[in-house]
Amino acid sequence: MLNRLDEQSPDALLALIKMHAADTRSDKIDLGVGVYRTDDGGTPVFAAIKRAEQQLVDEQDSKSYLGPEGDMGFVNALMPYVFGEDATMGGRIAGMQTPGGTGAVRLALALGQKAGMTKLHMGTPSWPNHAQIINDLALELVPFDHAKPDGTADLDAVLAAIRGAGPNEGILLHGCCHNPTGVDYSDEDWAAIGDAIAETGIFPIIDTAYHGLGHGLDEDVVGLRSVLAKVPEAFIAYSCDKNFGMYRDRVGAFYILSDGQETLNKAFSNANALARASWSMPPDHGAAAVRLILRDSELTQVWQDELEQMRDRMRLVREKLADAGVQGSVDMTPLGGQNGLFSVLPVSKEQVAQLRDDHGIYMAGSGRINIAGLTMGNIDKFIGAIAEVTAE
Ligand code: LMR
Repeated sequence: MLNRLDEQSPDALLALIKMHAADTRSDKIDLGVGVYRTDDGGTPVFAAIKRAEQQLVDEQDSKSYLGPEGDMGFVNALMPYVFGEDATMGGRIAGMQTPGGTGAVRLALALGQKAGMTKLHMGTPSWPNHAQIINDLALELVPFDHAKPDGTADLDAVLAAIRGAGPNEGILLHGCCHNPTGVDYSDEDWAAIGDAIAETGIFPIIDTAYHGLGHGLDEDVVGLRSVLAKVPEAFIAYSCDKNFGMYRDRVGAFYILSDGQETLNKAFSNANALARASWSMPPDHGAAAVRLILRDSELTQVWQDELEQMRDRMRLVREKLADAGVQGSVDMTPLGGQNGLFSVLPVSKEQVAQLRDDHGIYMAGSGRINIAGLTMGNIDKFIGAIAEVTAE
């Protein structure tokens, strides 16, 4: 039976981790998979997480099952940061823990499909795993342009997609720090997007995987909140893997917004059943640590300070790249106004390979770079390599 399967190529982003690890050059640069790095190139465990983990070791008295919804203390503690002071929007939001943001996206799309969604509109390029999940569920993906060639968001394209959508269609949006482009909609764009969604009834699914890595915890969810204020129903996929540095611990949450209590309960029960059939229960440890942080004002401050340091460092890298201006055929100026861990450089696959082979610089074939992979120690080498490889 198994010989009927077609060989699958490994996930291109994850394959980069192994390629970079196998490279013996001491000045190699990893701009591949999206993990934050300090200016020393490390990805240390957050101090706030270390303290919460210690508390867990000392105080956790059981590892017995919780249920498909996971740690509801974690799910609820996160809500004011995402949805604001009225964290349930008047009782209209219910959530559950998921294995990372990927689990939340998977659950959102599977639940949408169960409710009758057949087509999903998505700005491209997007995180490659979005398309993989959509294809795996056999949903129809309808792409539109996310960004314009000048490095700004294409508002007309998203509005046209929303206005042209028929019944049973959804739209997948990135809440902030767009992956891979770093190009976000402005607050005014989000207002127009929210109005268009409310007019047409297309179902919004907002993936928020980089909350706090753009401009700040409040600033990064202005768009999400303005859409939610206008629409009757929505799904939100949330990840703590980046903003708490919990990557391999898989800490995520899935929230449902509905305008009726009965509908909300029904939708939640279906999400619960899908979770049970998929992973039964999410892994506990990381979510429990995040819960402890968010319930302790001192630890919350430690975490927010760490997040601010990450943001500031990435801004510094972006400013330095923008200051470098045009290098070879690449204009780095727009990177200064983009957000989060990623930006895309206009380089060909051959140039990406040349950067890897000749300079030990690892980046996605799409030209996406992880901004946090650049440090004050390697950024000049990177800029020089771009100039050399893309020289006409
Ligand atoms: C990325 O885009 O690099 C991250 O979201 C990690 C992943 O799972 O792909």
